Amino acid sequence: MAFFFFLLFFSSVFASSLFLFLFLRPARFRRARLPPGTLGLPFIGESLQLISAYKTENPEPFIDERVRRFGPVFTTHVFGEPTVFSADWETNRFILQNEEKLFECSYPGSISNLLGKHSLLVMKGSLHKRMHSLTMSFGNSSIIRDHLLVDVDRLIRLNLESWTGRIFLMEEAKKITFELAVKQLMSFDRCEWTQNLMKEYLLVIEGFFTVPFPLFSSTYRRAIQAREKVAEQLRTVVRQRRKQSKEGERKKDMLGALLAGEDALSDDQIVDFLLALLVAGYETTSTTMTLAVKFLTETPLALAQLQEEHDQIKARNKESHQRLQWNDYKSMPFTQCVVNETLRVANIISGVFRRAITDVNIKGYTIPKGWKVFASFRAVHLDHDHFKDARSFNPWRWQKTSSGSTTLNAFTPFGGGPRLCPGYELARVELSVFLHHLVTQFSWVPAEDDKLVFFPTTRTQKRYPIYVTRKNDTTHSSTPHIKGGEANRVESGFNM
Ligand code: HEM
Repeated sequence: MAFFFFLLFFSSVFASSLFLFLFLRPARFRRARLPPGTLGLPFIGESLQLISAYKTENPEPFIDERVRRFGPVFTTHVFGEPTVFSADWETNRFILQNEEKLFECSYPGSISNLLGKHSLLVMKGSLHKRMHSLTMSFGNSSIIRDHLLVDVDRLIRLNLESWTGRIFLMEEAKKITFELAVKQLMSFDRCEWTQNLMKEYLLVIEGFFTVPFPLFSSTYRRAIQAREKVAEQLRTVVRQRRKQSKEGERKKDMLGALLAGEDALSDDQIVDFLLALLVAGYETTSTTMTLAVKFLTETPLALAQLQEEHDQIKARNKESHQRLQWNDYKSMPFTQCVVNETLRVANIISGVFRRAITDVNIKGYTIPKGWKVFASFRAVHLDHDHFKDARSFNPWRWQKTSSGSTTLNAFTPFGGGPRLCPGYELARVELSVFLHHLVTQFSWVPAEDDKLVFFPTTRTQKRYPIYVTRKNDTTHSSTPHIKGGEANRVESGFNM
């Protein structure tokens, strides 16, 4: 979803800048007491400064410099519009909590075209409320404990079985999260159909990162066509399942819940809904998995402590001949510290955009109706006032954090308010189970130096290539070698 943030630049930069600079600004904005700041150059504002900062490993100076000059709530002009930027946790909370009262989410048309107008991400009003709560109920702890955990465990083990030699961790993680999402949503295991779906789906994802004008961008055109193909494949599944459901056959997956719901959704509504869930959980969770491994590799003491926690769980389960259970997940305290710290430092979703639906007074300033605001989670998560030595990876900090502390209030990797991420618990479980199998089955070393960058999304430049060695398995050489199928996987388009 971080791509929504950046895509706004392409979609609206010229039209809206021109309009605001020529007509709106003088009359209306002079009256409002705007947060201090600068609008930068006409039309492009401060977008170029922001992009060049986010293309490096250390984008913080962009925000630090403005917070120092203007305070934590400041005015800027990025991605085509004047924007109130909040690096303040209380303001962020206020923005999130006042969804649809004072602010609303707003994505450019190009995004809705790819997601579909019935996707949860763009849905508003009472339907959003009902569908959000249905999605939340489907990803809650008891559903994960009773139904999803077994698939998460099995699919991660299955994927890791084929690992040998040099792998691109980012690609492998994406395969895992895609398969998990398809299983959770529609009960499909990996098969030719899911492989085909993934190929088309990857083309749709590419569309999110490109210039969204069909006339200029063949990638965007291809993405729109691929979206139609994915939608058609999903529509066929929805029809079949609707028929089965009428005959009394019901599966306990997301599609089953949608078909049984009170809203009598049309096939198209269900298709858009499923597609958006695939998009929302896939990139976010796989990037977090990859970065957790990167941070752990760079922090050997943390890796050793994590290893110890999981070796104990594995030994216990070996004795009782059990697979990973919910109780195991609940007895991974240090893993939870690692997950929190990865989410805090990586900031896969660096923040969210909203639009003021009325003049909003906050902290002595007015945000004029129609203005964009950006609630920056990243700025808060990397603020030394909330997190000591905030810019280093230190999972132990979470051992000392008590519930109700400001630190926890300031920690919002999954957003908050009515649009709180419905996949937050599932993502944590996927990450924990992945780390369990990784550290108990493999040791690894980075194959190359790889840098973190934040534009157009948070990712490592080289997809984090590593050499893996299977533990206690003398049949696998520890000498790095290239995996046979690697060339094919790269060609089949996992290289986003
Ligand atoms: C590490 C992984 C994840 C992170 C960091 C993350 C983060 C977020 C954030 C910050 C939002 C709020 C967006 C906003 O307020 O506009 C969000 C919304 C959402 N997330 Fe996640 N997410 C993750 C995993 C998942 C997973 C696994 C799923 C699927 C089950 C999912 C499904 C969604 C959906 C459907 C929304 C939209 C909710 C709405 O607008 O009502 N996410 N996510």
